[in-house]
Amino acid sequence: MAYKETMGKVIAIANQKGGVGKTTTTVNLAASLAIGERRTLVIDFDPQGNASSALGVDRESLVGKPTIYHALIGQVPLSQAIYPTGIDCLSVAPANGDLTGAEIELVTAFAREGKLKAAIAEIKAQYDYILIDCPPSLGMLTVNAMTAADSFLVPLQCEYFALEGLSQLLHTVSLVKQSLNPKITEEGILLTMFDGRNNLANEVVREVRTHFAGKVFDTIVPRNVRLSECSSFGKPILLYDIDSKGCLAYLNLAKEVLSRNQPQAGLSSEAPAPEQASGILAL
Ligand SMILES: Nc1ncnc2c1ncn2[C@@H]1O[C@H](COP(=O)(O)OP(=O)(O)OP(=O)(O)O)[C@@H](O)[C@H]1O
Ligand SMILES: [Mg+2]
Repeated sequence: MAYKETMGKVIAIANQKGGVGKTTTTVNLAASLAIGERRTLVIDFDPQGNASSALGVDRESLVGKPTIYHALIGQVPLSQAIYPTGIDCLSVAPANGDLTGAEIELVTAFAREGKLKAAIAEIKAQYDYILIDCPPSLGMLTVNAMTAADSFLVPLQCEYFALEGLSQLLHTVSLVKQSLNPKITEEGILLTMFDGRNNLANEVVREVRTHFAGKVFDTIVPRNVRLSECSSFGKPILLYDIDSKGCLAYLNLAKEVLSRNQPQAGLSSEAPAPEQASGILAL
């Protein structure tokens, strides 16, 4: 077994914009960390259930079985809503449409924003990394994820309106930081779906790197059709096309995440030094 740098580091993958690569990043970063022998859990926190199906846990197989929804409302301990995947060190707490109900059901609940954090507490020590795939909204589910998280990672699509809505997201994080979770830090911004032939994409990369200097992962995820295909086969890219550029990008991202969290490990990553990586988005 490799290094044990963290005890259950919880990372929320969030952006209220739809289709920017949250789920693709959650699933493939998690798979890459697991291949590196880090005990990794994906929490699917989106009623669309895309992360669950991308990891081979489909809607039908969940009928009558506990999901993250049941753990969130306290019906079962989270440990009973965790399922294995095709990768040894990788498990998933799946979601389905039931989770939509939680937004409403939790409205009157005591300490409603802390429900996910409380559910995770029971299993946190059993994992090295816990990645939460957030839904495309800033509602109760995302606030629960931010309250439970040690850090947050923001995928940004390399397109014209990439930064639109980012200040709203950062504002939400700063509210969470003020009241519910003062310890949350920034894992970083990840540029996704990059197409080098597109001048605009290059411009977006330059702009984001200038605006958020030192806060953006070196790894840029290219637009890669293999990444969009693999989820329909219920597999992370590592099990679908290990030679693809998409796979390489997520392995590199995992290397950056590991080196930010284990500065002594001597990995050959070119990730920024840990002091650059902290204090990121000026919360
Ligand atoms: N790097 C990529 N190259 C090509 N296609 C990609 C890439 N990343 C994601 N996609 C595809 O783009 C679509 C949106 O990606 P994804 O589902 O990861 O985004 P999301 O932010 O989770 O969306 P939502 O907000 O709906 O949850 C999916 O069809 C996915 O397969
Ligand atoms: Mg998604």
